[in-house]
Amino acid sequence: MTTIPLPANPVPAPRRLVFWHQKGGTGKTTLAIATAVALARAGARVMLLDTDPQGTATAWGERWAEHWGLAVRAHDGAGLWQGVERLGARFDWIIVDCPPLIAANTLEAVAGAQHLLLPVRPALPDLWALEAVAQVLADQAAIAAGAALHARVVFNQTRDEELAPLRQLVLDLGLRALDAPIPAAAAWADLFAGAPPPPTLAPLLAALG
Ligand SMILES: Nc1ncnc2c1ncn2[C@@H]1O[C@H](COP(=O)(O)OP(=O)(O)OP(=O)(O)O)[C@@H](O)[C@H]1O
Ligand SMILES: [Mg+2]
Repeated sequence: MTTIPLPANPVPAPRRLVFWHQKGGTGKTTLAIATAVALARAGARVMLLDTDPQGTATAWGERWAEHWGLAVRAHDGAGLWQGVERLGARFDWIIVDCPPLIAANTLEAVAGAQHLLLPVRPALPDLWALEAVAQVLADQAAIAAGAALHARVVFNQTRDEELAPLRQLVLDLGLRALDAPIPAAAAWADLFAGAPPPPTLAPLLAALG
């Protein structure tokens, strides 16, 4: 019998983090950029992939990626993870910002996630839109086997709303939310002008382990 020698130092796979929700304006891009910056500042090698034709993360990257020592690329989402395998030795984290859609390319990105974060504002329309997202995660076997295990709703842009009933809606959909919400603060807009992420990002980072 012929044995195939294993490489002495197998190439470590980058960790795969995806921000998604079909609802617009919930904070996907903001939190994806903030997380990328925070991980890069902690010494990780980070690639931020912008799969949203709006191109906000790409535009931010053209201005600030070099400053923060991370890579930002636009990608249409199709075949995203096959291409990323080849980047294994060069990056510790691949972070994907998705458009506010349930679409084939986006689901391909979602299906390959190890960590899937679903930002919502503390408002019923954002929770109603989460119903179809939860349905997708529950229905699609490939996704349910991977991403859904690590999916977390992130309450973002909170003020003084009563979150308990909204948290119950998340549970009713079979999803889990991070314990700590990310409050609304003007400092988040400064991220786009090159500021570091506000400290209220910490619970999200902690959830990544
Ligand atoms: N915690 C926060 N506090 C205050 N403003 C915030 C916060 N999070 C995001 N924002 C602001 O909300 C707006 C929408 O954020 P963002 O573009 O990240 O949402 P999105 O989910 O990516 O939107 P889209 O669905 O269009 O891609 C931006 O102006 C952003 O600066
Ligand atoms: Mg966005």
